[in-house]
Amino acid sequence: MKRTFSIIKPDATKRNITGAINNIIESSGLKIIAQKRILLTESQAKDFYDVHKDKNFFTDLVQYMTSGPVVVQVLEGENAVVFYRDLMGATNPKEAKIGSIRNKYALSIEANSVHGSDSLENANKEIDFFFKENEIVG
Ligand code: CMP
Repeated sequence: MKRTFSIIKPDATKRNITGAINNIIESSGLKIIAQKRILLTESQAKDFYDVHKDKNFFTDLVQYMTSGPVVVQVLEGENAVVFYRDLMGATNPKEAKIGSIRNKYALSIEANSVHGSDSLENANKEIDFFFKENEIVG
């Protein structure tokens, strides 16, 4: 069993669709083995998205990710990283495949409802960023 890291983003928590997204996650067979609802600080958002610091959307992204609550999660399942990226759909909702989370719920390329790690290495880093091992219960 492998783990990935997920964020339900402010556009989704504001629309009260956390449960609807979790329903898609759980129906897919992925197990939510850690979860908390938090308000990211500016410093946390900047650190988390450090790889994007030179992108033209970085300032907007940090502003958006701190604009409301997020739900950070650890998901467990076979091939969890790739499996969850497929379940989320493409970053840009216009390109997200039918039935994916972003196809159903994302509002824009920025307010795209969910984040999922892009590699096993990043999944481990991102999980460590938000969770202690004893907060993760498989
Ligand atoms: P995420 O998968 O969390 O990774 C980086 C985030 O930056 C992405 O989802 C979007 O929320 C945002 N993002 C990516 N590309 C763009 C873009 N071209 N313009 C604005 N925001 C973007």
